[in-house]
Amino acid sequence: MNKKPLLIATHNQGKLIETKDLLKNSSFDIVSLAQQEKSCVVQEDQSTFYLNALKKAQTYQQFYQMPVIADDSGLVVPALNGEPGVFSARFAHENASDEENNQFLLKKMKGIEDRRAYFECVVVYIQSPQNFVWARGTYNGEILEAPQGGQGFGYDPLFYVPTYKKTMAQLLMHEKNQISHRALALQKLLIKIKEKGWA
Ligand code: IMP
Repeated sequence: MNKKPLLIATHNQGKLIETKDLLKNSSFDIVSLAQQEKSCVVQEDQSTFYLNALKKAQTYQQFYQMPVIADDSGLVVPALNGEPGVFSARFAHENASDEENNQFLLKKMKGIEDRRAYFECVVVYIQSPQNFVWARGTYNGEILEAPQGGQGFGYDPLFYVPTYKKTMAQLLMHEKNQISHRALALQKLLIKIKEKGWA
C-alpha cells in the first residue's frame, strides 16, 4: 500500500519517538521537521494550547503542503490561576532552562497548600486548510517541594503522580509514554483521524 506522508511538527526527539510509536500501525509514512530542506519558524504566541497547536499545524501544512500533526503542551497549576500554562517553556524568563523554570515554580508555590496540578496537551491533525481534527489530554498530579528523579524533561522532577507514588521523572520513559497527557491526546486524535477515514 502507498503510505501517505505525515509531518510531525516537533523538534523534540522524545515527542517524535512517542508519536511514531503510536502511529506505527497506521497508513502514514512519518516524516520529521529535521528531514525537511527548508525551515519554517512558528511563534507560539497564542493564548491557549489549542490556538498554539492549530497555528503551528496550519502554518506547517501550508508551508510543506502535506498533512501535519502539531501539538502544544504545558503545566497548569490551579492555585496559580492556571500558570505557567502556555508560558510553561519560558516561565522564569524567555530562554529559561528546565532547572530555572522548576526553581521559579517552587518560589511561586512557597506557602501554598493546594499543590494540585495537571499537564495538558492539545494535538491537531490537519489534512488541508479546511480539514482538521484535534484532541486534548490531561494528567493529574501534585507539585512537590523539591525535585526528585532524573528522567523526562521540563517539570517532571516536581510532578508527583500519586498512583505510582513517584514523580514523572522517576518513571521509565515507556511508563510515562503510556499514561502521559500527550499519549492520551494522541490516542484520541488517532481515533478521530480514523473516523474521518484519513488513516
Ligand atoms: P511544548 O509543548 O514543547 O511547547 O512544551 C512546553 C513546556 O511545557 C515544556 O518546555 C515543559 O516545560 C512543559 N511540558 C510539556 N510537557 C511536559 C511533560 O511531559 N513533562 C514536563 N514538562 C512538560
